[in-house]
Amino acid sequence: METQVMVSDVWKSFDNGRIEVLKGVSLMVPNGEIVALCGTSGCGKSTLLNVISGLEEVDRGDVSVGGYDVVRESTRVDLLRHHIGYVFQFHHLMPDLTLEENCMVPVIAAGGNRAHALERLAELAEATGVAHRLKQRVRELSGGERQRGALVRSLMNDPELLLCDEPTGALDEKNREKVFELLIELVRSRGRTLVMATHDLELARRCDRMIKMRDGRMEGEIH
Ligand SMILES: Nc1ncnc2c1ncn2[C@@H]1O[C@H](COP(=O)(O)OP(=O)(O)OP(=O)(O)O)[C@@H](O)[C@H]1O
Ligand SMILES: [Mg+2]
Repeated sequence: METQVMVSDVWKSFDNGRIEVLKGVSLMVPNGEIVALCGTSGCGKSTLLNVISGLEEVDRGDVSVGGYDVVRESTRVDLLRHHIGYVFQFHHLMPDLTLEENCMVPVIAAGGNRAHALERLAELAEATGVAHRLKQRVRELSGGERQRGALVRSLMNDPELLLCDEPTGALDEKNREKVFELLIELVRSRGRTLVMATHDLELARRCDRMIKMRDGRMEGEIH
């Protein structure tokens, strides 16, 4: 099976090395796998997702996604645009744009077809329960609506690799289930790969593999 994500002995610190966050992390995710990344707050989950996406540079070590060398190649922006979908922990939607406009940003950036994208948007918004909020500015949406909106945005370009940082953290039980089911169904039916950071152990156990981090290191995994 082909490798989608390869992280080899990655070290990452902030504040000129004063804050060491990733301390020799290695991780291999084959194409099509659904992985949960768990561990206590501050152990480095979001930092690891940022490193995989190329948004954060590493101090040392290697990272590749879909065969691209994320550390060395200058194609990082292209990789983000065309290959990776990212649901950020704090969603990072633009508050003054409508949800629809936010969702169209990655499509425009990737040079996608607008009519086709609007159809996809309608389907995804319906499936996540935010269809009636598409024309509203993000600043007017609830936390859970923003989170579901961010998920819709991340899926617009049908990415090979989906990185989700606490995608259900702001959701009630019913929406949590709906969003998780949708995620799994979309990823499985299209043969995509998902790496999801979560504190929700019940959801984590339903993934193909659950990886536990502790203080910037891999502690263990459960298949
Ligand atoms: N830009 C930064 N500058 C300084 N420290 C940072 C920065 N980003 C993250 N950190 C620190 O790195 C550590 C790991 O942060 P990270 O966000 O990766 O944790 P996490 O596992 O995602 O936690 P949570 O479950 O709370 O989201 C934390 O102690 C955090 O304060
Ligand atoms: Mg985090």
